[in-house]
Amino acid sequence: MRVGILTGGGDCPGLNAVIRAVVRKGITYYNFDVLGIKNGWLGLIEGRIIPLDLNAISGILPRGGTILGTTRTNPFKIEDGVGKIFAQIEKFEMDAVIAVGGEDTLGVALKLCDRGLRCVGVPKTIDNDLSGTDYTFGFDTAVSIVTEALDRLHTTAEAHHRVMVVEVMGRHAGWIAVEGGIAGGADIILIPEFPFDIEDICSQIIKRRERGKSFSIVVVAEGAQPKDASLITQTDERDSFGHVRLGGIGTMIAREIERCIHIETRVTVLGHVQRGGTPTAFDRVLATRLGIAAIDLVHEGTFGHMVGLQGNKVVSVPLSEALAELKTVDKDLYDIAKVFFG
Ligand code: F6P
Repeated sequence: MRVGILTGGGDCPGLNAVIRAVVRKGITYYNFDVLGIKNGWLGLIEGRIIPLDLNAISGILPRGGTILGTTRTNPFKIEDGVGKIFAQIEKFEMDAVIAVGGEDTLGVALKLCDRGLRCVGVPKTIDNDLSGTDYTFGFDTAVSIVTEALDRLHTTAEAHHRVMVVEVMGRHAGWIAVEGGIAGGADIILIPEFPFDIEDICSQIIKRRERGKSFSIVVVAEGAQPKDASLITQTDERDSFGHVRLGGIGTMIAREIERCIHIETRVTVLGHVQRGGTPTAFDRVLATRLGIAAIDLVHEGTFGHMVGLQGNKVVSVPLSEALAELKTVDKDLYDIAKVFFG
């Protein structure tokens, strides 16, 4: 059997651990040939396909990024993109494809499955917003990076009696902001799920000063929105999946805090630092377990499914179910974070 694997969408720590697991078990247990598809769905359209043997995956476990490269390519927005994909599948005699990606990459996988592709999905996003799995790999690494940044920002905020606004990733869901914020002792956390009021933020900062704390740490997810206002974006342009490029909410909040309560405020945008570098041990183990489960699904002939972690069990879920709606932060978790606000 010949199995292709691709990584699509934004990269995240743990992708190489998935590739390694698929290749190791695919070759040594099942005697499969494993092919690496370069740069997400684009590589399948263009026929950029390389053999992956045991040497190719040696030493990649701790490496961030993806040895296969990635793009945000939507084959349904490219002329005859889908036709070209099926032509390459035939040319390379690929019996199955493992697609490692988030809602966009797996959304394409689902549509291709409906057209006859034998595909298995592996959920990936640092945002942790995919349903069907309690955690996605990359998220734990991102949360660790945010936590370390908050520890560092605390000391300088305290020394200067400032407000520090920290903008983190999280387009539709505030998982990184909430978990990083709880772990790093944030005084206010703002997430897409619960629109905020700038006046509330200012009065919480003032109250904190009145009880003797002369600094505040505000964590904001890039997709957080003020009540009665729209998303803050960098440009109006949209990618081929219809997403705008977010960014700028931190600066907007800092400006408003200085304007309303005249307290010196600084902004840190953690950006792609959260996605780079070596995965945590948790993410390496999760990515490895999911990679193994994906090649097992291929071996047993279960397609149109995604592997995922539920409790401490690796399960398989139909892609249609996993993609039906995003997994957002529930009120219970946000209420825990709120105990420490102000
Ligand atoms: O992968 C999801 C994500 O990390 C979002 O939180 C963020 O908006 C986006 O990727 C940024 O992607 P890009 O690499 O295209 O700037």
